[in-house]
Amino acid sequence: MNEKQWVGEKAAEFVKDGMVVGLGTGSTVYYTLKRLGELVNEGLSIQGIPTSVQTEIIAKEFGIPLTNFLEVEHIDLAIDGADEVDLHLNLTKGGGGALLREKIIAKAAKTFIVVADSSKLVEKLGTFLLPVEVVPFGFSVTERHIRELGCSPEIRLKEGKPFITDNGNYIFDCNFPDIPYPETLERKLNMIPGVVENGLFVGMADMLVTLGEDKNIVVKRT
Ligand code: 5RP
Repeated sequence: MNEKQWVGEKAAEFVKDGMVVGLGTGSTVYYTLKRLGELVNEGLSIQGIPTSVQTEIIAKEFGIPLTNFLEVEHIDLAIDGADEVDLHLNLTKGGGGALLREKIIAKAAKTFIVVADSSKLVEKLGTFLLPVEVVPFGFSVTERHIRELGCSPEIRLKEGKPFITDNGNYIFDCNFPDIPYPETLERKLNMIPGVVENGLFVGMADMLVTLGEDKNIVVKRT
């Protein structure tokens, strides 16, 4: 079993009967989805809201019943991965391009659990390129404004063309080498016209499921 599987499966233990569950995106939360599928098969009654089309497909394959925000008003628990987790459980997310729906769902959740193998743990955010989702209209102007905040944005490509998010937008991956004040940067980025959302999740995570140095599961709470 690899680290992603350990933490992914562990997080599924926090899901209880009757819950509406936000279903994250990525290779770590994949194991949470797989485990939830098994539990549903054994009789667990939940409804999931996926953070991406990719997760929607996987959840359906695993037999997890799905719902949406027109049918439910709140989410009891959201579980999602991260690209970086700092000491205060602030996150960088969006490596898989699902940051916008991930943030909407994390914000709507009463409890937000992050699952991350030990390679994701950092003292300060900034090693991973920060994803910023922008609307295609005027994206070169938007890029200039992002650059003015101190990075060199690179448009994310897929097969030589701009990667398109589930929301029809582009992503700039931005090399902010060191992010001393994530909350300030999060706000400044989102004030730029054309920016839809960025991958900084500040003060949102309630719990982190990871592995300690001794390779035992650690559950940290904020
Ligand atoms: C997708 C994300 C993922 O949660 C993040 O990239 C972590 O992915 P993985 O578990 O595959 O390392 O933010 O947009």
